[in-house]
Amino acid sequence: MSMLQRLTESRVWRALVRQGVSATNRNRILLVMDNVFLHLHSAKTRSRNLELSSTYFLGAISLVLFGILTLSGLLLMLYYHPSVPQAYHDMKELQFVVSNGLFLRNIHRWSAHAMVFIVFLHLLRVFYHKAYLPPREFNWVVGVILLLLTLGLSYTGYLLPWDQLAFWAVAVGTNMAEATPLIGPKLRYLLLGGNAVGENALLRFYVLHCALLPLALAMGVAVHLWRVRKDGGVQGSSGRYGSRRQVKP
Ligand code: HEM
Repeated sequence: MSMLQRLTESRVWRALVRQGVSATNRNRILLVMDNVFLHLHSAKTRSRNLELSSTYFLGAISLVLFGILTLSGLLLMLYYHPSVPQAYHDMKELQFVVSNGLFLRNIHRWSAHAMVFIVFLHLLRVFYHKAYLPPREFNWVVGVILLLLTLGLSYTGYLLPWDQLAFWAVAVGTNMAEATPLIGPKLRYLLLGGNAVGENALLRFYVLHCALLPLALAMGVAVHLWRVRKDGGVQGSSGRYGSRRQVKP
């Protein structure tokens, strides 16, 4: 008996994957419906939708980058205290003392730059394929929220090293927020937790960056992928699969 066969016939495997893998349509659907990790997959996928020209894999790459950022971010949290001036020292320690600390920091930093870039390219791809038209207009709006959350994560992460670049970037950014008509000064106060960039601002940006925004992004991505399925799968480059087809939610 091969290793694979032994694994798929073990009790643990059968407890997780209750349906066999026989290739009937009914079984395919049951396999997907019964598994919490698979329920976002469609039971059947048009081979066209998997072609490079349909998506350029940009949505999937954004998702992988979000995964890398979450994992590397969690590891960075083990070495970081959101307090003044300890935050700055923690980053220096990561850079010069912790083994592979610089590597970890750079993985997080470069993945963050890449995510902003790739999410934006994904938006351009969707626009180019007119995939913002019905029935995908709701998912377009979800996408815009995901883009704003991605930019929010990028901005809040910028303050955390607590160096000159971080300090002045947040000083300038929150001054710009202050220029918003009517609510400007209140918005700046809310973001900074006071009138100046200090300890309170660092704590607020930390909570936003490490808890609130990633949670909102994860929930948004779940809705986004569920919607891709409900709207009839991905729209390929020729638009052959009826971008105007109305599908009941
Ligand atoms: C965290 C950011 C995002 C992630 C992880 C993500 C992920 C994905 C994935 C995996 C797909 C299916 C495959 C593909 O089309 O590449 C998809 C489709 C789609 N995305 Fe996104 N996306 C994000 C941001 C956005 C943004 C910023 C927009 C536009 C404002 C957007 C609009 C759409 C639309 C309309 C579809 C359906 C496309 C179609 O049916 O052809 N997404 N997304």
